[in-house]
Amino acid sequence: MSNEHHMLRQASPANIALAANMLQDSQCVAFPTETVYGLGALAHEAAAVRQIFTIKGRPSNNPLIVHVADRAMAGQYGVLNDCAYALADAFWPAALSLIVPVKEGVVAPEVLAGNETIALRVPAHPVAQALIRAVGAGIAAPSANRSGKISPSRAAHVVAEFAHHTQQPAMVLDGGAARIGLESTVVRCVSEGAEILRAGSITAQQLARIVPLVSKSKEDTGHLPSPGMLSSHYAPNASMRLNARSVQPHEALLAFGMPCTGMPAQMLNLSEASDVDEAASHLYDYVRVLDATHDHIAVMPIPEKGIGLAINDRLRRAAVSGA
Ligand code: TXA
Ligand code: MG
Repeated sequence: MSNEHHMLRQASPANIALAANMLQDSQCVAFPTETVYGLGALAHEAAAVRQIFTIKGRPSNNPLIVHVADRAMAGQYGVLNDCAYALADAFWPAALSLIVPVKEGVVAPEVLAGNETIALRVPAHPVAQALIRAVGAGIAAPSANRSGKISPSRAAHVVAEFAHHTQQPAMVLDGGAARIGLESTVVRCVSEGAEILRAGSITAQQLARIVPLVSKSKEDTGHLPSPGMLSSHYAPNASMRLNARSVQPHEALLAFGMPCTGMPAQMLNLSEASDVDEAASHLYDYVRVLDATHDHIAVMPIPEKGIGLAINDRLRRAAVSGA
């Protein structure tokens, strides 16, 4: 029992300093960000970065986001073009990852997974900021879940993901529930503008106020630029039935707003007030809770506005591989 929680620590200044020492010592540490928890290693430490892939069971062709403290530090890792500068100035620190050409020799090759570009993000979370500043270097960190599974929005989710595995993070810093609860918007910065690779809380409308948006043609989807953008991802064990207008007794219900008709086996409401931001912050926690005791989850329709677009993107991927 104690073995399951020995790695969990409050994100106090002393424990952040301890975590920084572990990172410097080439170990992996899970830490909070405002989107989801990340599983971090120093971006230039190849052995530690390889350990991230091992712990997650992540395919080696899926590149990692490098977390930096500010725009100046981003400039040490990537070549920011006009588009990247404009977006960085408008949004960072934020749930926004920018993909730009990588500078040579600044990160372990494993971080890039064969790409000549790097994904950079300045997180707003004070614990993430403190950790980056304590190590004085970029921290490569994917979401702290096993590959293909639901991202963790709480420290306890991270502990649960790896508790029964031999390979674990050296420490999980507990900074409370993630404020946003969904992964960052991923944007590729090209000379013509920004191409959205993954929807997130920074919306297309917000981005379009700053730079032109370049959209990928439909025929392009044969070779996705991001291996992480697989159709099956964020997978619970339960089956997921989306856009449910009524619910069956054998199903658990993930409600949004006024619950639909029917008597579900259990119900959790993402937002009684029909607020998409509140729904995003509860999404992964509630899916995990329902998935633990039910085989079938019905999900009410979520409006395609604001972060609702990103919620629906994740739900569709979660629904693909359900049992
Ligand atoms: O909010 C987030 O983004 C969280 C927190 C921890 O920062 N991180 C996260 O990382 O979601 P991960 O690894 O789960 O998702 C990163 C996505 C993957 O789909 C990956 O393929 C893509 O970003 N990516 C990373 N580097 C890339 C690159 N150079 N080119 C294209 N896609 C890239
Ligand atoms: Mg992930």
